[in-house]
Amino acid sequence: MSRHYCLWVDGKWCQPQNYEVLHAPFSGEQLGFIGQATPVEAASAIEAAHRAFQEYKHMSSFRRSAILAKAADLLSRQRERVETLISLETAKPLRAARAEVSRTIETYRFAAEAAKSITGEQVAMDAAENGEGYIGFTIREPIGVITAITPFNFPLNLVAHKVAPALAAGNTIVLKPAEQAPLSALLLGELFQEAGLPDGVLNIITGKGAELGEVLTTHPWVKKISFTGSHAVGELVQRQAGLRRTTLELGSNATLIVDEGTSLDDIIDRCVSGAFGNNGQVCISLQRVLVHASLFDEFTDKLARSASQLLLGSPLEESTDVSSLISSQAAHRVAAWVNEAVVGGAVIVTGGRLREDIGHNIYAPTVLINAPCSSKVWSEEIFGPVVVLKPYEHLEEAIELVNESRYGLMAGIYTNNLQNAIVAARQLQVGGVAINDIPTFRVDQMPYGGVKDSGKGTEGIKYAIEEMTNLKLIVLKGTDRS
Ligand code: SIN
Repeated sequence: MSRHYCLWVDGKWCQPQNYEVLHAPFSGEQLGFIGQATPVEAASAIEAAHRAFQEYKHMSSFRRSAILAKAADLLSRQRERVETLISLETAKPLRAARAEVSRTIETYRFAAEAAKSITGEQVAMDAAENGEGYIGFTIREPIGVITAITPFNFPLNLVAHKVAPALAAGNTIVLKPAEQAPLSALLLGELFQEAGLPDGVLNIITGKGAELGEVLTTHPWVKKISFTGSHAVGELVQRQAGLRRTTLELGSNATLIVDEGTSLDDIIDRCVSGAFGNNGQVCISLQRVLVHASLFDEFTDKLARSASQLLLGSPLEESTDVSSLISSQAAHRVAAWVNEAVVGGAVIVTGGRLREDIGHNIYAPTVLINAPCSSKVWSEEIFGPVVVLKPYEHLEEAIELVNESRYGLMAGIYTNNLQNAIVAARQLQVGGVAINDIPTFRVDQMPYGGVKDSGKGTEGIKYAIEEMTNLKLIVLKGTDRS
């Protein structure tokens, strides 16, 4: 019989009123029954977090650091079980699930380190005439209860990007993992308890719906909302949050520029992994490639050949490169967007069809050319294994095409020309530019956040901690007497 997964509140499993069945995206098999928190149950998790904050905010950074380090160790001891769970619940191919677990362990270790260096600075008070005789300095204080709403595509590491800095900074947290893939996140309650985290500091509630979301964004004890997900929901979160702090990671249609003179053999594998890794469900998936006209045909041939050789299948098979999208709705949306582009003049070089003969919700790795700029595959976030190629003549034109997008998370440029690299890095309107790599590049300590409709705020442990603490000024008068 499938297990019933309860809510983790105040250091124990709490039976919710309702459950919903969870299915594996690839096989359709039943994975369990997931608790569906009501607004009242969500509020009681927030209240537990608020009570726990009164003590946890005083815990030394030494102890917070030790808890995070122990949690990383405990996770690494059960990594095989967690990898399998991630593969099952998201259809992420096992190799990618392994990479995610490794990154998550590292994310918690970065947080363990960062907890020990949360500091303010001395302010040169006497640099102002009326500041003579004063000294001033800042300290960073935790802000209180943070709610974290996380997506399915990295169900463990994107959770860590919210939980780890919150705990490092002395905050308490209510986590609502993705309704499509909550199982790996639900392991964290007991894991952190074993690592020594006091009850109520980390609470995990599952479920979905507008009413549940509204409690997480508007409850009076909530001081910050950290959200990763769609632009539409991000806008709603921001509206409901009012003056509360928010961090919103809202995705993109990430673009790579391949400049004249680039050696294509050196970059094709990387482009394939950027476009089709994690089944294309990454906020910085390589969705668009602007290729210098002199290289366009060769790049198209090479990328399409590699894409067509990818192995589709069960996420649990070692050899699988691409598996199912998260749901049938997602797979059919991707198919509809590709069809819309084709009607508008796009040409499918490879892929372009559902592969339900292999497993539920599989869409073949797809390379498109000639897609109109008005098509959704070009202008919106596709979140599937589809990459769209366009030729350009001059770098300025490529930069303009990138900047026309409503999104701006990461971009990349391959070039041998230092000046072009710097021009692109300066002019591209995005949160980060990878020179000589794909925009899908991310390590977990780097600042990560978008501009425009890609969101606001910055993740990456150190930067997230800044956004999860208040800067308090302390001024001392009468320091000029000797
Ligand atoms: C994301 O999809 O926003 C996260 C990408 C990553 O962490 O690699």
